[in-house]
Amino acid sequence: MALTNSTTRYGIVSKTFHWLTAIGILVMLPMGVVATQMPHDTADQLARKATLFSLHKTVGVALFFISILRIGWALTQPKPFHLARKRGVETVMADTVHWMLYGALILVPLSGWVHHAATEGFAPIWWPFGQNLPLVPESAAVAEIAGVVHYVFVLALVASLVGHVAGALKHHVVAKDDTLRRMGFGRVGGAPQTPVEPFVFSPLLAVMIWLATLGAGYAVSVIDSPARNADVTALTQPETGWEVTDGDLDIAITQFGSTVSGGFETWSAAIQFDETIPAGAASHGRVAVEVAIGSLTLGSVTAQALGDGYFEASLFPTARFEADILSEDESYVAVGTLTIREIALAVTLPFALEIEGDTAHMQGDLTLDRRDFDIGMAMTDTAQLANEVTVSIALTAVRVAP
Ligand code: HEM
Ligand code: HEM
Repeated sequence: MALTNSTTRYGIVSKTFHWLTAIGILVMLPMGVVATQMPHDTADQLARKATLFSLHKTVGVALFFISILRIGWALTQPKPFHLARKRGVETVMADTVHWMLYGALILVPLSGWVHHAATEGFAPIWWPFGQNLPLVPESAAVAEIAGVVHYVFVLALVASLVGHVAGALKHHVVAKDDTLRRMGFGRVGGAPQTPVEPFVFSPLLAVMIWLATLGAGYAVSVIDSPARNADVTALTQPETGWEVTDGDLDIAITQFGSTVSGGFETWSAAIQFDETIPAGAASHGRVAVEVAIGSLTLGSVTAQALGDGYFEASLFPTARFEADILSEDESYVAVGTLTIREIALAVTLPFALEIEGDTAHMQGDLTLDRRDFDIGMAMTDTAQLANEVTVSIALTAVRVAP
């Protein structure tokens, strides 16, 4: 059997590549659907889901590299002529679908990979080359778009595949020609047909269809995204002696050994503060922070963190921190109560403060145990989800004239 293609038959390299990637795709499609739909309510379910996703990603990345080799090889080879009576819609469609499938072999795994690289944590690729991709930032917005694009690319792949397999079967069963047999490893010898040259504009048609699919995926992700944070509680900034002009309230968790960080977009802080403790007072002042829990983004696990068993944002929409500001040695501490899920706990937040004229910068970090607030109680294995959660707050405030 010849290694290379001719205009009448496929060589052994093309055939091997075809069936290797075909089997890969046919395994990956149901694996992606099953992994996406698997429940993750208990620690065991989450571990199983993560394992299947790691397998999906690892096989997918391997398939991506095999596909590059396959396409590189195809570009050096003649494409066998169609077995048909004349050029018609069907041969043009067959060629376009071939190019759609070549595109899918690159674009489907690549979009999944971009989604993976843009999120933090959850189901690593099993290989030693890191989890990031050059040029892909770790960003919830990029992850969201890439996730939808991966999905619409999968739909385009499935549509092309249905046409492709139907065409192959039609040749085999209705026309009884050698189209399917010549992609196999056995003998050929079906009904003779007149060869028809491949349609030269098919690659261009396929590129246009892929661009339209990309545009549709992008549009869907943009239309879809405002709905996600629809139930964020509105907070009004209280009028106090200091007005917060800028700030970040971030949290970091450790899932499957890697850090997943995120933060709350909506929060307010009422601050009363004097550099010197006023006569008769026991503290420098008071701080009251209110946080809209629904405004959290946390890598790929935002929805899970806001849902049942975790923050349960729909039942407990706000968290509060109310504290007195005291000085300790050369620095400050806020000593008070943190209330999350209506569970109030005494908390001390040490923080650094720099005041230049009427502008103050503060920065503080705190480590909490999620179990104190009944968060993720089903996750008892700390290798899957660590108990410690770090919280860091940094803000800039300006003194408001009394
Ligand atoms: C059960 C599934 C499949 C069957 C029965 C099948 C059958 C065939 C046949 C018979 C051909 C040769 C067509 C011809 O001679 O003109 C072919 C070509 C091709 N197949 Fe498939 N295929 C399957 C799955 C796939 C999958 C999953 C992919 C990739 C995603 C794929 C990609 C291609 C490509 C790109 C070509 C064109 C090769 C070339 O001429 O450059 N096929 N397939
Ligand atoms: C080789 C081809 C691949 C195929 C055919 C494929 C197929 C699928 C399918 C059918 C789904 C389910 C879609 C849904 O129901 O939402 C899915 C989801 C997913 N795939 Fe792939 N995939 C491939 C490669 C990859 C790769 C290489 C990665 C990452 C490195 C990846 C990451 C993901 C992720 C993270 C999801 C879940 C998306 C979400 O929940 O938004 N996939 N994939």
